[in-house]
Amino acid sequence: MTEPAQTAPGAAEDDRVLIFDTTLRDGEQSPGATMTHAEKLEIAELLDQMGVDIIEAGFPIASEGDFKAVNEIAANSQNAVICGLARANYADIDRCWEAVKAARRPRIHTFIGTSPLHRAIPNLTMDEMAERIHDTVSHARNLCENVQWSPMDATRTEWDYLARVVEIAIKAGASTINIPDTVGYTAPVESADLIRRLIAEVPGADDVIFATHCHNDLGMATANSLAAVEGGARQIECTINGLGERAGNTALEEVVMALKVRHDIMPWSTGVDSSKIMHISRRVSTVSGFPVQYNKAIVGKNAFAHESGIHQDGVLKNVETFEIMRPEDVGLSSNALPLGKHSGRAALRDKLNQLGHEVGDNQLKDIFVRFKELADRKKEVYDEDIIALVSDTAEAGQAHLNLVSLKVTCGTGGPAEATMEMEVDGTDITATAHGDGPVDAAFKAVREIYPNTARLQLYQVHAVTEGTDAQATVSVRLAEDGVIATGQSADTDTVVASTRAYIAALNRLIVRRSKSGPGVDTREISYKDAG
Ligand code: KIV
Ligand code: ZN
Repeated sequence: MTEPAQTAPGAAEDDRVLIFDTTLRDGEQSPGATMTHAEKLEIAELLDQMGVDIIEAGFPIASEGDFKAVNEIAANSQNAVICGLARANYADIDRCWEAVKAARRPRIHTFIGTSPLHRAIPNLTMDEMAERIHDTVSHARNLCENVQWSPMDATRTEWDYLARVVEIAIKAGASTINIPDTVGYTAPVESADLIRRLIAEVPGADDVIFATHCHNDLGMATANSLAAVEGGARQIECTINGLGERAGNTALEEVVMALKVRHDIMPWSTGVDSSKIMHISRRVSTVSGFPVQYNKAIVGKNAFAHESGIHQDGVLKNVETFEIMRPEDVGLSSNALPLGKHSGRAALRDKLNQLGHEVGDNQLKDIFVRFKELADRKKEVYDEDIIALVSDTAEAGQAHLNLVSLKVTCGTGGPAEATMEMEVDGTDITATAHGDGPVDAAFKAVREIYPNTARLQLYQVHAVTEGTDAQATVSVRLAEDGVIATGQSADTDTVVASTRAYIAALNRLIVRRSKSGPGVDTREISYKDAG
């Protein structure tokens, strides 16, 4: 039994902006950001719990894995509307409906590229495309009472044609009209004007919600989204950490916090519990393998750090001198006490809960072992260290490849040598390899033991905390035959962290290649084929 569709904002709701999160669709589409089935379910649950209004859970026809993820997210959802993406054809729409109909509040989101460049791809005349829009939106509306329609590349579509097709979609039954700035081309003043003009001039516009969907190619996605709200949009489409193709999408944390902090000049509110932002940001970063840039607004490591003397002095006298929001507002605890080597399992579990991680007994056991090893090497174990350990142990146990031991010798006089023992599907194998530095030697030893043709696309090292005993978090991205997988790991030894991250990425590649079970990406069609 499905619940009624989200109603258009009437007078009483005029100040409410709906948050539509597309981390699991537009975000996950970003090359290399592919998530496993379990990770998608976890992120959807976090989005639902934090008060996101609509979750775009995936593109059901793209692959069996996408379908299963959308379907299970729909079945599990508690509050949010669960939406699936469909191109403008009946097969996509039917498949989308199959996937979302288990939700308490399902939505079909169908779209077609309407700008001259996009119209040329399916080779449809303007009239033919208009007819296709009418037929596909009507078809979706016959299946589901909550239908969203998007003219892809709206901001580069001729005004007359855009107004014409928006009217057709409204008449055919769409209750949300999304206006995408697909290539991140528009500017704030245009973004506001476009929505304002559509609402003023298109017949029926008052009965639907207008949404804004911005990409960040010129760094204006957040500004454009907020300007669209100024123009009358009441739904913002966004992703956690701004994840998304190319320069990404509008960042959820930025629009939510901008509306909260500057409520004086932007009198609209969202239903998002901002104290849950930090946790979901870290989880999305970990599972997507996309680290958050240090100076990223709201969720960057430095967003609340006051390093310079002048800043520290000011903040100590009065926090408002340099802080426009409190760390707690986004879920950062300002007085977090580090753990040490005498901390027990109960203290660790308590800390994990405070950080938003509910782990089972087995995972707690694994994390505790790693925590004790770390505490032996590092006097104080900070929240960031614990978070890195959780991510590291989450997949252990189910992996095909497990590092047993590694010994590396290196110096100024010659190549580095790595001797490694690795368990491959339960069998221990040992190899020695030489390389141009310790990381190169260790990676070569992995390839000796488990030959593969995966190409290293990205290798990134970050210090989790300060000091020479800090853990290093390493991200590795591998590509093999069009399949991309990322791995992350943390350790006080950079070579060990690098090797574990490399092995984690290989494990994910193996799962994806095996083409069995949910979470496997057999995606053969792209949403860009829309026509
Ligand atoms: O950017 C875009 O145009 C999209 C559409 C599918 C809505 O993501
Ligand atoms: Zn998009």
